[in-house]
Amino acid sequence: MESLNRHEDYGQESLDETHLLSDPIEQFKIWLREAEAAQIYEPNAFVLGTVDEHSHPRTRTVLLKGVDERGFFFATNYLSRKGEAVAVNNNVSATFGWYSMYRQVLIQGTAEKVDPAESDEYHASRPHDSQVAAWSSHQSKPIDTRSALDTQFEQALAKFENTDVPRPDYWGGYRIVPTRIEFWKGRSNRMHDRIEFSRSTLADGSLGQWQVQRLQP
Ligand SMILES: Cc1cc2nc3c(=O)[nH]c(=O)nc-3n(C[C@H](O)[C@H](O)[C@H](O)COP(=O)(O)O)c2cc1C
Repeated sequence: MESLNRHEDYGQESLDETHLLSDPIEQFKIWLREAEAAQIYEPNAFVLGTVDEHSHPRTRTVLLKGVDERGFFFATNYLSRKGEAVAVNNNVSATFGWYSMYRQVLIQGTAEKVDPAESDEYHASRPHDSQVAAWSSHQSKPIDTRSALDTQFEQALAKFENTDVPRPDYWGGYRIVPTRIEFWKGRSNRMHDRIEFSRSTLADGSLGQWQVQRLQP
């Protein structure tokens, strides 16, 4: 086996419950802004985990396109593998790995399709060719050749030349409504800091108050 036995010192900067905001979504926004300021490549990229109808997990990277008190917004093809998985099991995870800052945020929650009007609004904000791409790729479906894919794109470009591109009904946003958000900060000697916020779903379907606890590294 090739050895990958590197030992990087993750430093002394600590993470203390008393330094974090009591609202983990607000705290997440601060870390996201700090990741942007640190000029990390694609700071809003995260690894989305889903579980399909056979209970098989699958992860892939997507881009966070918005965050507010309701949760974490991303856009994709509803008929993709991730879309099919979410349709049968909407439990998902999201991992933000800001490794050069020795930081990681782990999120668990449920993914819900956003209102069509919100998907329309986001679609309208995208560059024309990205809008066309949503029409010309049946995401996660097989295709014989690259040139067949290029032809699909060129045909869609021609179809929508000089016209507004409507949003395909199979493409839009999801919002991850979080029930667990962990802030991880690497420390020396693998004695990392882990502060986890969690909340439960109450009998009436509403979400309880955030609770906070420290986890062992
Ligand atoms: C940096 C990066 C950002 C990506 N952003 C998105 C995205 O926002 N939405 C999306 O559908 N796919 C995005 N992808 C592609 C996905 O990783 C994945 O290939 C695609 O969504 C199909 O996944 P699925 O077959 O599991 O559904 C991104 C990939 C990378 C590497």
